[in-house]
Amino acid sequence: MSSGTKQHPGVILVTGGGGYVGSHTVVELLNANYAVVAIDNLSNCQVSNGKPESLNRVEKLTGKKVVFYEVDIRNKDELDRIFKMHKISNVIHFAALKSVGESTQIPLSYYENNVGGSNNLFQVMHDNGVKSLVYSSSATVYGIPLALPLTETHPTGQGCTNPYGKTKYFVEEIGKDLCSAYPDWKVVSLRYFNPVGAHPSGIIGEDPSGIPNNLMPYISQVAIGRRDFLRVFGSDYDTKDGTGVRDYIHITDLAIGHLKALEKISSPSFKGFQAFNLGTGRGYSVLEVLKAFEKASGRKVAYKLVDRRPGDIATCYSDANLAKTELNWVAEKDIDEMCRDTWNWQNNNPNGFS
Ligand code: NAD
Ligand code: WQD
Repeated sequence: MSSGTKQHPGVILVTGGGGYVGSHTVVELLNANYAVVAIDNLSNCQVSNGKPESLNRVEKLTGKKVVFYEVDIRNKDELDRIFKMHKISNVIHFAALKSVGESTQIPLSYYENNVGGSNNLFQVMHDNGVKSLVYSSSATVYGIPLALPLTETHPTGQGCTNPYGKTKYFVEEIGKDLCSAYPDWKVVSLRYFNPVGAHPSGIIGEDPSGIPNNLMPYISQVAIGRRDFLRVFGSDYDTKDGTGVRDYIHITDLAIGHLKALEKISSPSFKGFQAFNLGTGRGYSVLEVLKAFEKASGRKVAYKLVDRRPGDIATCYSDANLAKTELNWVAEKDIDEMCRDTWNWQNNNPNGFS
């Protein structure tokens, strides 16, 4: 991404800006001279001086101020105040609850926060004449893959087995309906595969609260000594070594995908709703990731093979060609860089942001 000196017109509102994907995207936006306003309700952030610590660090990293407000997207009045204060041209919408397991236990909270909150946000955007949205979606909308690699034409919604995945699908559907009802609305939905890694500086990264659900943060906490061993969920899948295969994507590649989406959505010829996969197009097994992490960290990562995790699929990877041709975006970083940067972050910040 080139970072000329000219400021882009308009302000980008980033919801969930204190989170993992949001904070890394704010870095790339500031480096590319976008004016940014970040909001977050701090529900999944370490806070210092009234701000997500991730964004304090983004300021250090970029040498720029981050305009931040503590706002909950479920609160229309608070949102409206932000739209009245700033000349917002586009919204990048990250704010959501994201734990698959938790969503099966407290589904109403997930629907209220992710679907209700998004509906509120879109209403306030509409009322204020802001009709350009880049949405954080997920490969989870494809459910159980009917064919691999997953292309954007694969059916969505069918086979979404958990409330979290359904919220991602429902919000996409709201975006499609908005574009059908109002020809001047534009929505780009970015379907992330498995985001991992950290900013190469080691200053910001992923800081899950409690026991990590996801593979890469769990492996790195074993390597640093915070956990005893990795439980490998399933070793009898029909995959190269019997363990689950996923399409891991480096967080800075993912962040840059959002800037490419902004360029696309801002072009006069772009209309309506369009989804893009953001992945590398290749899959790695759990054991391959573990070996790559051992190589990058120089540490042994103890593991035990255990039963499959309920709800998991054997294999999931993207066809990322549409993003290449339409967004001029490709994921550039490989699994070794993903592991190196995860380790660099973990090693410099053994307890994350706290
Ligand atoms: P995250 O939890 O680190 O970031 C989300 C941020 O949103 C948090 O800072 C949280 O405090 C904030 N938030 C939650 N509810 C809010 C509300 N009602 N109002 C205001 N702020 C609120 O998660 P992340 O990994 O950065 O995920 C960002 C987005 O990407 C989510 O929409 C998620 O569904 C999507 N996504 C993530 C992954 C992944 O593996 N990380 C994969 C696919 C899609
Ligand atoms: C990856 C592989 C596990 C942990 C989830 C969400 C998805 C998306 C990304 C938001 C699988 C195995 C994991 C562990 C293991 N999020 N594993 N031991 O399940 O592909 O995707 O995050 O949209 O919606 O479902 O990612 O990192 O949890 O698992 O063996 O302790 O690692 O079985 O094969 P997943 P993951």
